[in-house]
Amino acid sequence: MSGSEGRRRVLVTGGAGFIGANFVHYWVREHPADEIVVLDALTYAGTLTSLEPLLGRPGLEFVQGDIRDPGLVEALLAEYEIDTIVHFAAESHVDRSIESPAGFVETNVLGTYVLLEAARRSWLGGAVSAGSDACRRFHHISTDEVYGSLGPDDPPASESTVYAPNSPYAASKAAADHLVRAYHRTYGLPVTTSNSANNFGPYQFPEKLIPLMLIRALEGKPLPVYGDGQNVRDWLHVEDHCRGIDLVIASGRPGETYNIGGDNQVRNIDLVHRLCELLDDGFREDPALAERFPDAPAARGASSGELIAFVTDRPGHDRRYALDSRKVRGLGFQPREAFEETLRATLGWYLDHESWWRGLMDGGYRAWMSRQYGPRATAEASEA
Ligand code: NAD
Ligand code: DAU
Repeated sequence: MSGSEGRRRVLVTGGAGFIGANFVHYWVREHPADEIVVLDALTYAGTLTSLEPLLGRPGLEFVQGDIRDPGLVEALLAEYEIDTIVHFAAESHVDRSIESPAGFVETNVLGTYVLLEAARRSWLGGAVSAGSDACRRFHHISTDEVYGSLGPDDPPASESTVYAPNSPYAASKAAADHLVRAYHRTYGLPVTTSNSANNFGPYQFPEKLIPLMLIRALEGKPLPVYGDGQNVRDWLHVEDHCRGIDLVIASGRPGETYNIGGDNQVRNIDLVHRLCELLDDGFREDPALAERFPDAPAARGASSGELIAFVTDRPGHDRRYALDSRKVRGLGFQPREAFEETLRATLGWYLDHESWWRGLMDGGYRAWMSRQYGPRATAEASEA
Protein backbone atom coordinates (compact mmCIF):
# COMPACT_ATOMS: atom_id res chain seq x y z
CA MET A 1 0.00 0.00 0.00
CA SER A 2 1.35 3.45 -0.81
CA GLY A 3 1.87 5.78 2.12
CA SER A 4 -0.49 8.33 0.63
CA GLU A 5 -3.50 7.02 2.55
CA GLY A 6 -1.72 7.81 5.81
CA ARG A 7 -1.26 5.53 8.79
CA ARG A 8 -3.44 2.47 9.00
CA ARG A 9 -4.57 0.76 12.17
CA VAL A 10 -4.60 -2.88 11.23
CA LEU A 11 -6.17 -5.84 13.02
CA VAL A 12 -4.49 -9.07 11.91
CA THR A 13 -6.41 -12.18 12.97
CA GLY A 14 -4.41 -15.41 13.12
CA GLY A 15 -1.15 -13.43 13.15
CA ALA A 16 0.67 -16.08 15.18
CA GLY A 17 0.06 -18.76 12.54
CA PHE A 18 2.11 -19.48 9.45
CA ILE A 19 0.94 -16.93 6.87
CA GLY A 20 -0.31 -14.46 9.48
CA ALA A 21 3.10 -14.28 11.19
CA ASN A 22 4.88 -13.84 7.87
CA PHE A 23 2.36 -11.12 7.05
CA VAL A 24 3.02 -9.28 10.34
CA HIS A 25 6.79 -9.40 9.66
CA TYR A 26 6.12 -8.18 6.12
CA TRP A 27 3.77 -5.37 7.20
CA VAL A 28 6.09 -4.06 9.91
CA ARG A 29 8.89 -3.92 7.34
CA GLU A 30 6.87 -2.39 4.49
CA HIS A 31 4.57 -0.11 6.52
CA PRO A 32 6.57 0.80 9.63
CA ALA A 33 4.34 3.74 10.55
CA ASP A 34 1.17 1.63 10.79
CA GLU A 35 -0.23 0.29 14.05
CA ILE A 36 -0.89 -3.44 14.21
CA VAL A 37 -3.02 -5.42 16.63
CA VAL A 38 -2.63 -9.19 16.34
CA LEU A 39 -5.59 -11.23 17.57
CA ASP A 40 -4.83 -14.93 17.88
CA ALA A 41 -6.23 -17.69 20.10
CA LEU A 42 -2.87 -19.52 20.06
CA THR A 43 -4.37 -22.85 19.11
CA TYR A 44 -1.96 -25.74 18.46
CA ALA A 45 -1.11 -24.00 15.15
CA GLY A 46 -0.21 -20.61 16.59
CA THR A 47 2.89 -19.68 18.54
CA LEU A 48 4.26 -16.41 19.81
CA THR A 49 7.75 -17.59 18.98
CA SER A 50 6.95 -16.78 15.34
CA LEU A 51 6.53 -13.12 16.32
CA GLU A 52 9.32 -13.04 18.90
CA PRO A 53 11.61 -10.55 17.17
CA LEU A 54 8.70 -8.09 16.98
CA LEU A 55 7.09 -8.42 20.40
CA GLY A 56 7.39 -5.28 22.52
CA ARG A 57 7.85 -3.12 19.45
CA PRO A 58 5.94 0.19 19.68
CA GLY A 59 2.86 0.07 17.46
CA LEU A 60 2.47 -3.70 17.73
CA GLU A 61 0.03 -5.23 20.22
CA PHE A 62 -0.60 -8.92 20.69
CA VAL A 63 -3.96 -10.01 22.11
CA GLN A 64 -4.63 -13.64 22.89
CA GLY A 65 -8.30 -14.21 22.16
CA ASP A 66 -10.90 -15.87 20.00
CA ILE A 67 -12.41 -14.37 16.86
CA ARG A 68 -15.68 -16.01 17.90
CA ASP A 69 -15.92 -13.66 20.91
CA PRO A 70 -18.06 -10.71 19.72
CA GLY A 71 -17.46 -8.60 22.86
CA LEU A 72 -13.70 -8.90 22.50
CA VAL A 73 -13.67 -8.19 18.77
CA GLU A 74 -15.94 -5.14 19.08
CA ALA A 75 -13.87 -3.81 22.00
CA LEU A 76 -10.65 -4.15 19.97
CA LEU A 77 -12.12 -2.38 16.95
CA ALA A 78 -13.23 0.50 19.18
CA GLU A 79 -10.19 0.73 21.46
CA TYR A 80 -7.62 0.71 18.66
CA GLU A 81 -9.83 2.55 16.14
CA ILE A 82 -9.15 -0.23 13.65
CA ASP A 83 -9.66 0.75 10.02
CA THR A 84 -8.23 -2.37 8.33
CA ILE A 85 -8.93 -6.00 9.18
CA VAL A 86 -6.80 -8.70 7.59
CA HIS A 87 -8.45 -11.98 8.46
CA PHE A 88 -6.21 -15.06 8.46
CA ALA A 89 -7.47 -16.88 11.58
CA ALA A 90 -8.80 -20.29 10.68
CA GLU A 91 -8.51 -23.98 11.24
CA SER A 92 -6.40 -24.69 8.18
CA HIS A 93 -5.43 -28.37 7.91
CA VAL A 94 -7.51 -30.51 5.55
CA ASP A 95 -6.64 -33.80 7.28
CA ARG A 96 -7.75 -32.46 10.67
CA SER A 97 -11.02 -31.27 9.10
CA ILE A 98 -11.67 -34.84 7.95
CA GLU A 99 -11.14 -36.15 11.49
CA SER A 100 -13.08 -33.38 13.32
CA PRO A 101 -15.04 -30.92 11.17
CA ALA A 102 -16.84 -29.10 14.00
CA GLY A 103 -13.99 -26.74 14.88
CA PHE A 104 -13.70 -25.76 11.21
CA VAL A 105 -17.33 -24.71 11.02
CA GLU A 106 -17.08 -22.89 14.33
CA THR A 107 -13.90 -20.91 13.63
CA ASN A 108 -13.99 -20.52 9.86
CA VAL A 109 -17.72 -19.83 9.43
CA LEU A 110 -18.96 -18.52 12.78
CA GLY A 111 -15.68 -16.70 13.51
CA THR A 112 -15.79 -14.92 10.16
CA TYR A 113 -19.42 -13.96 10.79
CA VAL A 114 -18.51 -12.50 14.21
CA LEU A 115 -15.75 -10.39 12.64
CA LEU A 116 -18.00 -9.18 9.81
CA GLU A 117 -20.78 -8.26 12.21
CA ALA A 118 -18.36 -6.43 14.53
CA ALA A 119 -16.98 -4.48 11.55
CA ARG A 120 -20.52 -3.63 10.42
CA ARG A 121 -21.45 -2.34 13.87
CA SER A 122 -18.20 -0.47 14.37
CA TRP A 123 -17.81 1.01 10.90
CA LEU A 124 -21.41 1.38 9.72
CA GLY A 125 -23.15 1.78 13.08
CA GLY A 126 -24.98 -1.46 12.34
CA ALA A 127 -26.74 0.20 9.41
CA VAL A 128 -26.55 -0.18 5.66
CA SER A 129 -23.81 2.02 4.25
CA ALA A 130 -24.56 4.52 1.53
CA GLY A 131 -21.35 3.68 -0.29
CA SER A 132 -17.91 2.19 0.11
CA ASP A 133 -15.62 3.78 2.63
CA ALA A 134 -12.19 4.17 1.06
CA CYS A 135 -10.49 4.46 4.45
CA ARG A 136 -11.67 1.09 5.70
CA ARG A 137 -11.13 -2.43 4.50
CA PHE A 138 -12.06 -5.92 5.64
CA HIS A 139 -9.71 -8.25 3.75
CA HIS A 140 -10.56 -11.92 3.95
CA ILE A 141 -7.94 -14.60 3.25
CA SER A 142 -9.28 -17.60 1.40
CA THR A 143 -8.03 -20.51 -0.62
CA ASP A 144 -8.01 -22.13 -4.06
CA GLU A 145 -9.60 -25.19 -2.44
CA VAL A 146 -13.06 -23.58 -2.68
CA TYR A 147 -13.01 -24.24 -6.44
CA GLY A 148 -12.57 -27.98 -5.91
CA SER A 149 -10.55 -30.45 -7.91
CA LEU A 150 -9.41 -29.82 -11.50
CA GLY A 151 -8.85 -32.50 -14.12
CA PRO A 152 -5.47 -32.65 -15.90
CA ASP A 153 -6.69 -30.60 -18.88
CA ASP A 154 -9.02 -28.19 -17.12
CA PRO A 155 -8.11 -24.52 -17.32
CA PRO A 156 -6.98 -22.93 -14.05
CA ALA A 157 -9.81 -21.72 -11.78
CA SER A 158 -10.72 -18.07 -12.25
CA GLU A 159 -12.67 -15.84 -9.87
CA SER A 160 -15.88 -16.77 -11.71
CA THR A 161 -15.37 -20.54 -11.49
CA VAL A 162 -18.28 -22.13 -9.62
CA TYR A 163 -17.44 -23.14 -6.06
CA ALA A 164 -17.19 -26.91 -5.51
CA PRO A 165 -15.41 -27.49 -2.18
CA ASN A 166 -14.67 -31.13 -1.37
CA SER A 167 -13.32 -31.26 2.19
CA PRO A 168 -14.97 -29.93 5.35
CA TYR A 169 -12.11 -27.39 5.50
CA ALA A 170 -12.74 -26.19 1.94
CA ALA A 171 -16.51 -26.09 2.54
CA SER A 172 -16.06 -23.99 5.67
CA LYS A 173 -13.82 -21.54 3.77
CA ALA A 174 -16.36 -21.39 0.93
CA ALA A 175 -19.14 -20.61 3.42
CA ALA A 176 -17.02 -17.82 4.92
CA ASP A 177 -16.32 -16.40 1.45
CA HIS A 178 -20.08 -16.25 0.77
CA LEU A 179 -20.71 -14.43 4.05
CA VAL A 180 -18.01 -11.88 3.21
CA ARG A 181 -19.58 -11.31 -0.19
CA ALA A 182 -23.05 -10.96 1.33
CA TYR A 183 -21.85 -8.33 3.82
CA HIS A 184 -20.73 -6.24 0.89
CA ARG A 185 -23.83 -6.75 -1.23
CA THR A 186 -26.26 -6.26 1.63
CA TYR A 187 -24.59 -3.75 3.92
CA GLY A 188 -21.95 -2.14 1.74
CA LEU A 189 -19.15 -3.34 4.04
CA PRO A 190 -15.86 -2.55 2.23
CA VAL A 191 -14.57 -6.10 1.80
CA THR A 192 -12.08 -7.82 -0.48
CA THR A 193 -11.21 -11.51 -0.63
CA SER A 194 -8.11 -13.22 -1.95
CA ASN A 195 -7.99 -16.94 -2.80
CA SER A 196 -4.45 -18.19 -2.63
CA ALA A 197 -2.62 -21.31 -3.73
CA ASN A 198 -0.48 -23.53 -1.44
CA ASN A 199 1.99 -21.41 0.50
CA PHE A 200 5.42 -22.43 1.72
CA GLY A 201 8.21 -20.71 3.63
CA PRO A 202 9.31 -20.02 7.21
CA TYR A 203 7.09 -20.64 10.26
CA GLN A 204 4.86 -23.29 8.63
CA PHE A 205 3.53 -25.78 11.17
CA PRO A 206 5.11 -29.23 10.67
CA GLU A 207 1.83 -30.95 9.79
CA LYS A 208 1.84 -29.50 6.25
CA LEU A 209 3.61 -31.29 3.40
CA ILE A 210 6.92 -29.41 3.06
CA PRO A 211 7.97 -29.01 6.72
CA LEU A 212 6.57 -32.45 7.55
CA MET A 213 8.71 -34.13 4.91
CA LEU A 214 11.85 -32.15 5.80
CA ILE A 215 11.62 -32.87 9.50
CA ARG A 216 10.77 -36.54 9.06
CA ALA A 217 13.68 -36.96 6.65
CA LEU A 218 16.00 -35.40 9.25
CA GLU A 219 14.68 -37.88 11.80
CA GLY A 220 14.97 -40.86 9.45
CA LYS A 221 11.21 -41.51 9.52
CA PRO A 222 9.07 -42.66 6.55
CA LEU A 223 7.88 -39.89 4.23
CA PRO A 224 4.15 -40.57 3.79
CA VAL A 225 2.99 -39.72 0.27
CA TYR A 226 -0.78 -40.03 -0.08
CA GLY A 227 -2.20 -42.22 -2.84
CA ASP A 228 -0.13 -42.35 -6.02
CA GLY A 229 1.60 -39.01 -5.38
CA GLN A 230 0.32 -37.59 -8.66
CA ASN A 231 -1.82 -34.86 -7.07
CA VAL A 232 -0.83 -31.41 -8.24
CA ARG A 233 -0.55 -28.27 -6.12
CA ASP A 234 0.33 -24.74 -7.20
CA TRP A 235 3.11 -23.54 -4.87
CA LEU A 236 3.49 -19.89 -3.89
CA HIS A 237 6.13 -18.51 -1.58
CA VAL A 238 4.51 -16.87 1.46
CA GLU A 239 6.36 -13.61 0.83
CA ASP A 240 4.75 -13.36 -2.61
CA HIS A 241 1.37 -14.05 -1.01
CA CYS A 242 1.91 -11.19 1.47
CA ARG A 243 2.81 -8.85 -1.39
CA GLY A 244 -0.35 -9.86 -3.23
CA ILE A 245 -2.53 -9.20 -0.18
CA ASP A 246 -0.91 -5.79 0.28
CA LEU A 247 -1.68 -4.95 -3.34
CA VAL A 248 -5.31 -6.04 -3.07
CA ILE A 249 -5.81 -3.97 0.08
CA ALA A 250 -4.25 -0.97 -1.64
CA SER A 251 -5.75 -1.27 -5.10
CA GLY A 252 -8.43 -3.97 -5.09
CA ARG A 253 -12.04 -2.93 -5.57
CA PRO A 254 -14.37 -3.39 -2.60
CA GLY A 255 -16.67 -6.35 -3.14
CA GLU A 256 -14.21 -8.10 -5.47
CA THR A 257 -12.25 -11.32 -5.10
CA TYR A 258 -8.73 -11.93 -6.40
CA ASN A 259 -6.90 -15.20 -7.02
CA ILE A 260 -3.25 -15.18 -5.93
CA GLY A 261 -1.45 -18.14 -7.48
CA GLY A 262 2.15 -19.00 -8.23
CA ASP A 263 1.74 -20.38 -11.78
CA ASN A 264 3.83 -23.17 -10.39
CA GLN A 265 2.09 -26.55 -10.59
CA VAL A 266 4.07 -29.44 -9.13
CA ARG A 267 3.16 -33.10 -8.55
CA ASN A 268 3.50 -34.11 -4.90
CA ILE A 269 5.90 -36.95 -5.65
CA ASP A 270 8.18 -34.65 -7.65
CA LEU A 271 8.20 -32.12 -4.84
CA VAL A 272 9.07 -34.76 -2.24
CA HIS A 273 11.89 -36.11 -4.42
CA ARG A 274 13.25 -32.59 -4.90
CA LEU A 275 13.14 -31.92 -1.16
CA CYS A 276 15.08 -35.14 -0.57
CA GLU A 277 17.72 -34.14 -3.12
CA LEU A 278 18.10 -30.68 -1.58
CA LEU A 279 18.49 -32.24 1.85
CA ASP A 280 21.11 -34.70 0.57
CA ASP A 281 23.02 -31.79 -1.01
CA GLY A 282 22.84 -29.93 2.31
CA PHE A 283 24.40 -32.86 4.20
CA ARG A 284 27.18 -33.14 1.63
CA GLU A 285 27.95 -29.42 1.92
CA ASP A 286 27.80 -29.27 5.73
CA PRO A 287 29.27 -32.30 7.56
CA ALA A 288 28.04 -30.89 10.90
CA LEU A 289 24.48 -31.85 9.87
CA ALA A 290 25.33 -35.55 10.17
CA GLU A 291 26.20 -34.99 13.83
CA ARG A 292 23.03 -33.01 14.49
CA PHE A 293 20.75 -35.48 12.67
CA PRO A 294 22.42 -38.90 12.87
CA ASP A 295 19.21 -40.79 11.98
CA ALA A 296 18.87 -39.10 8.58
CA PRO A 297 19.86 -41.42 5.71
CA ALA A 298 21.92 -38.50 4.37
CA ALA A 299 24.06 -38.70 7.52
CA ARG A 300 25.45 -42.04 6.26
CA GLY A 301 25.69 -40.87 2.66
CA ALA A 302 22.43 -42.54 1.60
CA SER A 303 19.55 -40.81 -0.16
CA SER A 304 16.65 -39.34 1.85
CA GLY A 305 14.45 -40.61 -0.98
CA GLU A 306 14.76 -44.14 0.43
CA LEU A 307 12.29 -43.04 3.13
CA ILE A 308 9.45 -42.33 0.69
CA ALA A 309 6.44 -44.51 1.51
CA PHE A 310 3.16 -44.43 -0.40
CA VAL A 311 0.27 -44.59 2.06
CA THR A 312 -3.53 -44.72 1.95
CA ASP A 313 -4.95 -41.71 0.16
CA ARG A 314 -6.66 -38.77 1.86
CA PRO A 315 -10.45 -39.25 1.54
CA GLY A 316 -11.83 -36.92 -1.14
CA HIS A 317 -8.27 -35.91 -2.04
CA ASP A 318 -8.41 -33.13 -4.66
CA ARG A 319 -6.38 -34.14 -7.69
CA ARG A 320 -5.23 -30.78 -8.94
CA TYR A 321 -5.35 -27.09 -8.06
CA ALA A 322 -4.35 -24.29 -10.39
CA LEU A 323 -5.30 -20.63 -10.29
CA ASP A 324 -5.86 -18.12 -13.03
CA SER A 325 -4.32 -15.01 -11.45
CA ARG A 326 -4.75 -12.58 -14.32
CA LYS A 327 -7.02 -10.33 -12.29
CA VAL A 328 -4.49 -9.66 -9.52
CA ARG A 329 -1.76 -9.40 -12.14
CA GLY A 330 -3.84 -6.61 -13.60
CA LEU A 331 -3.23 -4.76 -10.32
CA GLY A 332 0.52 -5.22 -10.85
CA PHE A 333 1.10 -8.50 -8.98
CA GLN A 334 3.97 -10.68 -10.12
CA PRO A 335 5.42 -13.54 -8.02
CA ARG A 336 9.06 -12.64 -7.42
CA GLU A 337 10.40 -15.61 -5.53
CA ALA A 338 11.98 -18.35 -7.68
CA PHE A 339 10.67 -21.78 -6.62
CA GLU A 340 13.94 -23.71 -6.53
CA GLU A 341 15.80 -20.99 -4.61
CA THR A 342 13.07 -20.41 -2.07
CA LEU A 343 12.59 -24.13 -1.55
CA ARG A 344 16.30 -24.36 -0.72
CA ALA A 345 16.02 -21.28 1.50
CA THR A 346 13.04 -22.83 3.29
CA LEU A 347 15.06 -25.96 3.97
CA GLY A 348 17.85 -23.71 5.28
CA TRP A 349 15.37 -21.90 7.52
CA TYR A 350 14.18 -25.16 9.10
CA LEU A 351 17.78 -26.29 9.65
CA ASP A 352 18.57 -22.95 11.31
CA HIS A 353 15.41 -22.90 13.47
CA GLU A 354 15.35 -26.35 15.00
CA SER A 355 14.24 -24.99 18.38
CA TRP A 356 11.22 -23.32 16.74
CA TRP A 357 9.85 -26.55 15.27
CA ARG A 358 10.93 -28.80 18.15
CA GLY A 359 8.94 -26.49 20.45
CA LEU A 360 5.77 -27.31 18.49
CA MET A 361 6.25 -31.08 18.50
CA ASP A 362 4.62 -31.61 21.88
CA GLY A 363 2.35 -34.40 23.15
CA GLY A 364 -0.59 -33.07 21.13
CA TYR A 365 1.50 -33.11 17.97
CA ARG A 366 2.76 -36.63 18.60
CA ALA A 367 -0.79 -37.83 19.28
CA TRP A 368 -1.97 -36.27 15.99
CA MET A 369 0.89 -37.88 14.07
CA SER A 370 0.13 -41.28 15.47
CA ARG A 371 -3.63 -41.00 14.77
CA GLN A 372 -3.02 -39.66 11.29
CA TYR A 373 -0.13 -41.84 10.12
CA GLY A 374 -0.18 -44.90 12.38
CA PRO A 375 -3.13 -46.59 10.62
CA ARG A 376 -1.84 -45.53 7.21
CA ALA A 377 1.55 -47.18 7.56
CA THR A 378 0.64 -50.52 6.01
CA ALA A 379 -1.15 -49.20 2.91
CA GLU A 380 -0.17 -50.34 -0.54
CA ALA A 381 0.77 -48.03 -3.42
CA SER A 382 3.22 -47.84 -6.23
CA GLU A 383 6.12 -45.59 -7.13
CA ALA A 384 5.26 -43.00 -9.80
P1 NAD B 1 -2.30 -21.76 10.45
O1 NAD B 1 -3.09 -22.95 10.85
O2 NAD B 1 -0.81 -21.88 10.38
O3 NAD B 1 -2.62 -20.54 11.44
C1 NAD B 1 -3.92 -20.25 11.85
C2 NAD B 1 -3.81 -19.26 13.01
O4 NAD B 1 -5.16 -18.91 13.41
C3 NAD B 1 -3.12 -19.83 14.24
O5 NAD B 1 -2.20 -18.88 14.77
C4 NAD B 1 -4.26 -20.06 15.22
O6 NAD B 1 -3.86 -19.93 16.58
C5 NAD B 1 -5.24 -18.97 14.82
N1 NAD B 1 -6.62 -19.30 15.17
C6 NAD B 1 -7.27 -20.47 14.91
N2 NAD B 1 -8.52 -20.40 15.42
C7 NAD B 1 -8.66 -19.18 15.98
C8 NAD B 1 -9.72 -18.50 16.63
N3 NAD B 1 -10.91 -19.11 16.83
N4 NAD B 1 -9.53 -17.25 17.08
C9 NAD B 1 -8.33 -16.64 16.89
N5 NAD B 1 -7.29 -17.22 16.29
C10 NAD B 1 -7.44 -18.47 15.83
O7 NAD B 1 -2.91 -21.30 9.06
P2 NAD B 1 -2.18 -20.68 7.78
O8 NAD B 1 -1.66 -21.78 6.95
O9 NAD B 1 -1.30 -19.59 8.20
O10 NAD B 1 -3.45 -20.09 7.00
C11 NAD B 1 -3.89 -18.76 7.29
C12 NAD B 1 -5.09 -18.45 6.42
O11 NAD B 1 -4.75 -18.58 5.06
C13 NAD B 1 -6.27 -19.39 6.65
O12 NAD B 1 -7.46 -18.63 6.56
C14 NAD B 1 -6.18 -20.37 5.49
O13 NAD B 1 -7.47 -20.87 5.17
C15 NAD B 1 -5.64 -19.48 4.42
N6 NAD B 1 -4.83 -20.14 3.36
C16 NAD B 1 -3.76 -20.91 3.69
C17 NAD B 1 -2.97 -21.44 2.68
C18 NAD B 1 -1.74 -22.28 2.99
O14 NAD B 1 -1.14 -22.81 2.05
N7 NAD B 1 -1.33 -22.42 4.24
C19 NAD B 1 -3.29 -21.22 1.34
C20 NAD B 1 -4.43 -20.44 1.04
C21 NAD B 1 -5.18 -19.89 2.08
O1 DAU C 1 -4.34 -24.94 -1.59
C1 DAU C 1 -4.36 -24.10 -0.46
C2 DAU C 1 -4.42 -24.96 0.76
O2 DAU C 1 -3.13 -25.54 0.90
C3 DAU C 1 -4.78 -24.19 2.03
O3 DAU C 1 -6.08 -23.67 1.90
C4 DAU C 1 -4.69 -25.10 3.26
O4 DAU C 1 -4.91 -24.35 4.43
C5 DAU C 1 -3.30 -25.70 3.30
O5 DAU C 1 -3.20 -26.61 4.37
C6 DAU C 1 -2.98 -26.40 1.99
O6 DAU C 1 -3.83 -27.57 1.81
P1 DAU C 1 -3.27 -28.93 1.19
O7 DAU C 1 -4.15 -30.03 1.61
O8 DAU C 1 -3.00 -28.77 -0.26
O9 DAU C 1 -1.83 -28.97 1.95
P2 DAU C 1 -1.03 -30.15 2.66
O10 DAU C 1 0.31 -29.61 2.99
O11 DAU C 1 -1.82 -30.78 3.76
O12 DAU C 1 -0.89 -31.21 1.49
C7 DAU C 1 -0.29 -30.86 0.26
C8 DAU C 1 -0.41 -32.08 -0.66
O13 DAU C 1 0.42 -33.12 -0.14
C9 DAU C 1 -1.81 -32.66 -0.74
O14 DAU C 1 -2.04 -33.14 -2.05
C10 DAU C 1 -1.79 -33.80 0.24
C11 DAU C 1 -0.35 -34.29 0.17
N1 DAU C 1 0.20 -34.84 1.43
C12 DAU C 1 0.09 -34.10 2.56
C13 DAU C 1 0.57 -34.58 3.75
C14 DAU C 1 0.42 -33.77 5.02
C15 DAU C 1 0.85 -36.07 1.42
O15 DAU C 1 0.97 -36.73 0.38
N2 DAU C 1 1.34 -36.54 2.60
C16 DAU C 1 1.22 -35.85 3.78
O16 DAU C 1 1.67 -36.36 4.83
